Amino acid sequence: MIYDDLRSFIARLDEFRELHRITKRVEKDGELSAICRENFDRAGPALIFEAVGDYTTPLVTGVLGTNERYARALDIEPSIPAITEKWNQAYRHPIPPKVVARKDAPCKEVELTDIDLYGEPFPVPKWHPLDGGPEIGTLHAVITLDPESGWINVGTYRNEIFNKDTIGCYVLPNRHDALHFYKWRERGEPMPVCVALGLDPYITLASASAVPLGINEYDIAGGLKGAPIDVVKADLSDLLVPARAEIILEGEMPIDDFWPIEGPFGEFPGIMGTVVKPSHYIKIKKITHRRKPMFQGTLEGRPPSESTTVRSLCRSAAMFEHLRRAGLPGIKDVSITPMGCAGFHCVVSIKKIYHGQVRDIFGHVWGHPTLFAKHCIVVDEDIDPWNPLLVEWAIATRVQADRDVEIVKNGKSIRLDPSQVPSMRGWSALMGIDATIPHEWYERDGEKFPAFTDPLPEEMEKVRKQWGSYGFER
Ligand SMILES: Cc1cc2nc3c(=O)[nH]c(=O)nc-3n(C[C@H](O)[C@H](O)[C@H](O)COP(=O)(O)O)c2cc1C
Repeated sequence: MIYDDLRSFIARLDEFRELHRITKRVEKDGELSAICRENFDRAGPALIFEAVGDYTTPLVTGVLGTNERYARALDIEPSIPAITEKWNQAYRHPIPPKVVARKDAPCKEVELTDIDLYGEPFPVPKWHPLDGGPEIGTLHAVITLDPESGWINVGTYRNEIFNKDTIGCYVLPNRHDALHFYKWRERGEPMPVCVALGLDPYITLASASAVPLGINEYDIAGGLKGAPIDVVKADLSDLLVPARAEIILEGEMPIDDFWPIEGPFGEFPGIMGTVVKPSHYIKIKKITHRRKPMFQGTLEGRPPSESTTVRSLCRSAAMFEHLRRAGLPGIKDVSITPMGCAGFHCVVSIKKIYHGQVRDIFGHVWGHPTLFAKHCIVVDEDIDPWNPLLVEWAIATRVQADRDVEIVKNGKSIRLDPSQVPSMRGWSALMGIDATIPHEWYERDGEKFPAFTDPLPEEMEKVRKQWGSYGFER
């Protein structure tokens, strides 16, 4: 089963009772976010708020809020190995998008004649009590173009509403939209930008993932879908936008003019971020949407959340791909853990092949151009990096701190890590833990690492196969 748009995915979730419709009127600011927070903590279903204040458009959230729904989006069994395999396949076999005619693009069905981002028809929440303003782009796609190579980038960069036709764009200096911005600035021209809201799950996942430099996220989204993504040329620029998105905003980012302040915004580590002064902004010149549109957004904040689920799995796949492209042998699996805020903690499982392999992995994990896993743990292939219990067991039984822990001072970080004091924002100590079996050290002492206590693998396999026969339900 593949999904051409958000609507078809929602219909599927409904079929599997993974969607809940809230028909009661809820307040856009405050009440709606509190419901989302409680729902995340209960690992609840996707939600459609059908009556948000006096707005006519429903708000959809949480469609990718659990690993099960993430797997459902990819039409695979709900397991992390299956998700990893699907991502690997998408990177191996990207599928370019298909450009459709404007008349065949539902996102062009209706044009808003009067642009007022605060008013009808879109219910844009102020997601956190201390936010600087309502945030229209939270789980969406910001589309930009490299004016030299034609490379189109699709990334999830938040958009605060500044006034009725102006939005912010939280651009970090090494993100791909920033790289495009620098090129437009060199040319002396404003950067065309489109913002697509209400997306099929493949575009959402590719947009939020650290897809390598120069690769079009639409190709990776196509690889995840197993079919091309329909795109349509934007009305005001050469950008290609998802043809079946619910809403498209078209505008321009000035290169020499800035908005005085952006934020603060409730951030993924569960803290309020600092304000950006001054900030990039996008002047919105045109808005089109589908008939009876849906507005999609998500509550950012501490894990667990939809954002954590999306980022943890997407980034793990992206880091895996980064290590593969670097030519590092023996990599078995990678987990950017959800409770490490889907960013700070990376666990890599390996088949140990050569001396120094673990140090090479530390270096490449810390050297990822846009990810920021300050703590990297390397385990043997018998440890599932997604299982925190086994990872802790490996640390307890295979690590000597003075031998196996490496600390690097003044490494790269992001400014949103609250463990770092303000004067050191953007810098971080990096810690690598080699939690692999210390075979070399045992050999030096003329011995072998002790044997394990687990039953024989063939016994385990046999028992697993006939588990039901012992009277267990599953
Ligand atoms: C819900 C959500 C919100 C995000 N918000 C931002 C943001 O505001 N700014 C940013 O730089 N990255 C943000 N990210 C992470 C980026 O989308 C991610 O790093 C992506 O790889 C960026 O695209 P790029 O690799 O093409 O630069 C967010 C991710 C998610 C899932």
